[in-house]
Amino acid sequence: MRLLVTGGAGFMGSNFVHYIYASRPDAEILVYDKFTYAGRIENLKELDTSRVKIVKGDILDQEKFTETLKAFQPDYVVHFAAETHVDRSIKDPSIFIDVNVKGVYIILEALRRHDGPKLIHISTDEVYGDISGEPVTEEAPFKPSSPYSASKASGDLLCQAYWRTYSLPVRIVRPSNNYGPRQFPEKLIPKTILRALNGLPIPVYGDGSQERDWLYVEDFSRGLETIILRGRDGEAYNLPGLNPKTNIQVIQDILTLLGKPHSLITFVPDRPGHDKRYAMRGDKVLSLGWKPQTPWLDGLRKTIEWYKANEWWWRPLLGDEFFSKDTPWGGTR
Ligand SMILES: NC(=O)c1ccc[n+]([C@@H]2O[C@H](COP(=O)([O-])OP(=O)(O)OC[C@H]3O[C@@H](n4cnc5c(N)ncnc54)[C@H](O)[C@@H]3O)[C@@H](O)[C@H]2O)c1
Repeated sequence: MRLLVTGGAGFMGSNFVHYIYASRPDAEILVYDKFTYAGRIENLKELDTSRVKIVKGDILDQEKFTETLKAFQPDYVVHFAAETHVDRSIKDPSIFIDVNVKGVYIILEALRRHDGPKLIHISTDEVYGDISGEPVTEEAPFKPSSPYSASKASGDLLCQAYWRTYSLPVRIVRPSNNYGPRQFPEKLIPKTILRALNGLPIPVYGDGSQERDWLYVEDFSRGLETIILRGRDGEAYNLPGLNPKTNIQVIQDILTLLGKPHSLITFVPDRPGHDKRYAMRGDKVLSLGWKPQTPWLDGLRKTIEWYKANEWWWRPLLGDEFFSKDTPWGGTR
């Protein structure tokens, strides 16, 4: 199996590359990544370069992406590359529109003109927006709330249109919140772990009652592999964690596991447009034989242990701002 993985130097992309590298000795992988602030060569460093090739490239560079596609001849393009931080999208949406909308268009066009590979597009549960009632299926309407989720919804819709219009073989995957090793410290779980380890206050948006459905990144990788092996073209698949937790619960669990006082928690004004709850049904992917296997506290313990053991990885990423008591909270994704 030949996989071209865009964004394979980021959090979920690199975890997926590590997972496939270990589980499928037949797999040959090419990571195509711009190495933005979120993409790091360190995330791929233990992998044998005869099986994992790395190309530094921007998905907005149509010519380079097309050349790479032609030279590598993958069976699948697995498209992770994106701008991913909601707070950054609120400050300045423009790069989110470029990468998450135009970038998807460039990949779809390259594939339309190049027979062969199938596209596996990584979308998000955030396209459905705030869910107050029952968890939603893949048929639920899109109601994105932030510039990030609106840009992801646009990319998802473009993939649906290319399937309808050109029969371009594409499968869409909508994962819930992932956690695990190598996640950039601006996101809720690593930020809480690292601030708590350093004895800093943990600011929480609003009253902390926002609910997310947490999926351990290795379970995500197995789910994605299942969709690649057993999914159908033209289908979208929710990939839920089936593990809903409020933000305040997540933070309290981390503090308890670290033996730190809950008094570190401080409440700060809520993020504009903050979704209260994400909740998806996973019947389609469950019917393919996948289910999450990592119990919440086990996954959280493994994540904490990884950050404790890999200070070399996160220390260079933390500027003075991180250690300031006044740093605004860089929320829940
Ligand atoms: N993290 C989550 O919980 C979560 C949940 C659901 C969906 N997603 C989606 O999964 C995907 C991966 O998320 P993540 O958290 O691993 O992201 P991340 O921010 O950790 O990594 C993004 C990667 O994309 C690369 N990239 C960014 N712009 C690029 C460009 N123009 N060209 C080439 N590469 C570029 C970065 O260098 C980085 O390696 C994204 O599409 C995201 O929307 C994430």
